[in-house]
Amino acid sequence: MTPPTPDWQKLRADFPILDQQVHGHPLVYFDNAATSQKPRAVIDALVRYYERDNANVHRGIHELSNRATAGYEAARVRTAKYLNARDPHEIVFTRGTTEGINLVAQAWGSQFIKAGDVILATEMEHHSDIVPWQLLAARTGAKLRFLPIRDDDHTLDLARLDEFLTRDVKLFAMAHISNALGVVNPVAELCARARQLGAVTLVDGAQSAGHLPVDVQAIGCDFFAFSGHKMCGPTGSGALYGRREVLEATPPYMGGGEMISTVDYDHSTWNTIPHKFEAGTPDISAPIGLHAAMDYLDAIGRENIWRHDQELAEHCHDRLASLNGVRLFGPAKGRAGLVSFLLNDVHAHDVVTIADRYGVALRGGHHCTQPLMKKLGVPSTARASFYFYNTKAEVDRFIEVVKEIQKFFGV
Ligand code: ALA
Repeated sequence: MTPPTPDWQKLRADFPILDQQVHGHPLVYFDNAATSQKPRAVIDALVRYYERDNANVHRGIHELSNRATAGYEAARVRTAKYLNARDPHEIVFTRGTTEGINLVAQAWGSQFIKAGDVILATEMEHHSDIVPWQLLAARTGAKLRFLPIRDDDHTLDLARLDEFLTRDVKLFAMAHISNALGVVNPVAELCARARQLGAVTLVDGAQSAGHLPVDVQAIGCDFFAFSGHKMCGPTGSGALYGRREVLEATPPYMGGGEMISTVDYDHSTWNTIPHKFEAGTPDISAPIGLHAAMDYLDAIGRENIWRHDQELAEHCHDRLASLNGVRLFGPAKGRAGLVSFLLNDVHAHDVVTIADRYGVALRGGHHCTQPLMKKLGVPSTARASFYFYNTKAEVDRFIEVVKEIQKFFGV
């Protein structure tokens, strides 16, 4: 059941970092797609763990080790519930989305991708959902193709899906939400189409996991990778969901302690999933912090967060569109909580630098999507990205700052 709509302004008090002046102005933090801020509940969970329970997991028989192991494994159960995975064994802890995708490319890819196979991604992917596949293609002789985006609203050109999603596609990797455009992809539909052809699917959930309800069973993907730091969790936290049958068939990623069942000088045997993929001492505190973040987000309600994100993005988009000389990227309606834009020929870095003088934190650059920028015909964009602790008043303040920047550059 969705909790009642919260008092967003009141929630800001949970984030100590938001209450500060930057260059003499109240901080407006609009760089949430890069990383979110952390509520007191998450910071406290980390402090509690280090002050009371810190020990290595799965190894000791002493009390602290038992507590650390219990906290670490409880986080796995919580993550499975958060994603509606069938089984906590389907959750592999990683340092984030990038590590999750590399795990799939290295371990699953080396076993199942052969010369001549096709790996399909989309033209809006982040580098972390392009480069691992390029490395895999180079190793195996597979081909890498990209489903195009439309020229008008930059959504996926679904009319061309049949042309790209062919029988030789063995893996289809797709962003759930584009970090550079705010486009929300129809991942359940894309995964269903891929499944009909027997292709394995991977959803990059970096921008979605903390912003809307995610149900991996309803999406029907084989893999779902996400980062904790973009959803109120600590940096270095994250997980890869893998459907049980697919994870079980996947060979190990890194070798070392924890991931083995037996080791001899000439051969080893592997632990069961998910431990087979968690070599060495993990960052134990990271999933414990992530657990607190998931509890925090679900107490607010991800449906509420998603509605708030979309309202702020639409308000920001419409206000920017009403100004002269603003170029906007992505669709006008139905976008996720971020807006990419350019002010005439002003470089995005200049926009971001001046916004910072007014206490507004944006991101400018290629957003780790260089091929997409090339496709859009721009070197970079400026980006405002929102979270539930942002307010309409902050968006209005940002628009006033944009007007100042336009005045400064005479555009
Ligand atoms: N991928 C992150 C972003 O979009 C870092 O900012």
